[in-house]
Amino acid sequence: MKSGALLLPLGNKLQVPGFIYLESTHCLTKNDRHLIQVMVNQCSSALENLKLHFELKEANRESLYMLAMAAEFKDQNTGNHIRRISEYTRLLALEMGLRAEEAEECAQASILHDIGKLGIPDAILQKPARLTEDEFTFIRRHTTLGARILERHHWFQLAKDIALYHHEHWDGGGYPLGLRGNEIPLTARIVSVADVYDALSHKRPYKEAWEPERCIANLRENAGTKFDQTVVDAFLRLTDRGVFPRESEKKTGSEETGK
Ligand SMILES: [Fe+2]
Repeated sequence: MKSGALLLPLGNKLQVPGFIYLESTHCLTKNDRHLIQVMVNQCSSALENLKLHFELKEANRESLYMLAMAAEFKDQNTGNHIRRISEYTRLLALEMGLRAEEAEECAQASILHDIGKLGIPDAILQKPARLTEDEFTFIRRHTTLGARILERHHWFQLAKDIALYHHEHWDGGGYPLGLRGNEIPLTARIVSVADVYDALSHKRPYKEAWEPERCIANLRENAGTKFDQTVVDAFLRLTDRGVFPRESEKKTGSEETGK
């Protein structure tokens, strides 16, 4: 540092993320120095606000994960299901032409798709056999229960749509409302494919994990009836490019302990 140079730390007393360095200061008046200090103070405040913004965003993201994992644990899953759904949703959304930020928002919202299971009795969720029709009727309520949890704030509109509609079918044969085609929000149509693919490719109390080829064949068979054909097409393109299924999935196909 040259003699006479000015080195002004940015940030606060505890954290200094950077400095402003002025080498030639001989022509600065007292007023110039004051204005420079004001600018440094403002930059420091802006940096501090930015740091808090990212910390809040991170805390919010983690809160959502914790909430989603509460539902996952109740369903006796390890928590990896929601991580995989989130990743599949992001990749499918990108393949469907959504912008990176939109795909990321969908991926974040998708982790809450089964949050309504918090309101379903353990005896039904954890039943190690196929459900009776009455039990199915009960478990279908996880869609509307999830929507009721998430409708409390407009920030969760996307997550609410996914929770409410991810069991709707393209041909109108799904639940809870029997919507069909484009009446079902695109994000819910994407999560529907991601959710079923993950359920098929991993062990459940009532079934073994299916081989990737069998899962893909199931998606093909149900494209245009249960699933949106364009979402399945996007899935198949990702498969052709080797994105689905990943090698790690083949190895962890039986890791789940529950439904
Ligand atoms: Fe569900």
